[in-house]
Amino acid sequence: MKVIRSISELKHELQQYRVSSQHNAKIGLVPTMGFLHNGHASLMTRAREFADVVVVSIFVNPIQFGPGEDYETYPRNEERDLALAEKQGVDIVFIPTVAEMYPQPTKTKIRVSERTDRLCGASRPGHFDGVTTVVSKLINIVQPQFAFFGQKDAQQVAVLQQMVMDLNINVEIVPCPIVREEDGLALSSRNVYLNTEERKQALVLSRSLRDAEVAFNDSKSVTASELREKILSMIQSSPLAKIDYIEVLTFPELIPVADNAIVTEVESQIIIALAVKFGTTRLIDNMLFMPK
Ligand code: PAJ
Repeated sequence: MKVIRSISELKHELQQYRVSSQHNAKIGLVPTMGFLHNGHASLMTRAREFADVVVVSIFVNPIQFGPGEDYETYPRNEERDLALAEKQGVDIVFIPTVAEMYPQPTKTKIRVSERTDRLCGASRPGHFDGVTTVVSKLINIVQPQFAFFGQKDAQQVAVLQQMVMDLNINVEIVPCPIVREEDGLALSSRNVYLNTEERKQALVLSRSLRDAEVAFNDSKSVTASELREKILSMIQSSPLAKIDYIEVLTFPELIPVADNAIVTEVESQIIIALAVKFGTTRLIDNMLFMPK
């Protein structure tokens, strides 16, 4: 496994693969911000299935953090990250510095409208502009055929798919399923911030989504607002939970489902997406429902 820190060296290395004996070598990109866990590892495993060369980037992207967010304190552990990537059979880990990615403050930003209006786009103004800008840069640098993203950040997937479609970017965005702890908590680099009691109460997120799933499967007449209320009251029963949003939307368009719509009769995929704070830690989770 090669560890590369400069853009020019990475481009040079990938060019070797492109012209080498591995004719038409397919490149898969897994962008991350590090502090890697099994959720990230699952993207690398998926990338291995699709691509001959797997590139993982580790870069805590300052321009996707808002003022007062956790950019400075975002957990970092390069040594452990490299060991995890090596174990997954990654070919290249790209770890640029901020100065390497942004030698000057960027004067160009990619902005996707509509799909960024709700959910985390509404709670974190400018966040997705930072994501789409850095992912565009990474795609331009690596020129992969495939890029892998977790459905844990479902809005991120929807926004990136819109960007790739609108700008004719020659890459396939491959969404990968959410990886959870055995007790249901979705893996996240930010879970380390939770204290014991917060960690315990945070389980209400996956539990409430599973309850919603049962209601969706068992009932023929449950409405979007009933599903939402069910989740709301369950989460409110956790004293430490501070709800940011609970929304029922179509996916990937992210258009709200009408309150009185019977969810099993909606003809597109539906997502229930949650963002809830426990102490200072903001957690997100979601579940997708296929049309019946
Ligand atoms: P980061 O939070 O490090 O996540 C990197 C990738 O891992 C994302 O695609 C995310 O959805 C995926 N991921 C995280 N937890 C997961 C889980 N429990 N199951 C499945 N996949 C999971 O998302 C980012 O970084 C950044 O916004 C980035 C795309 C790298 C741009 O800076």
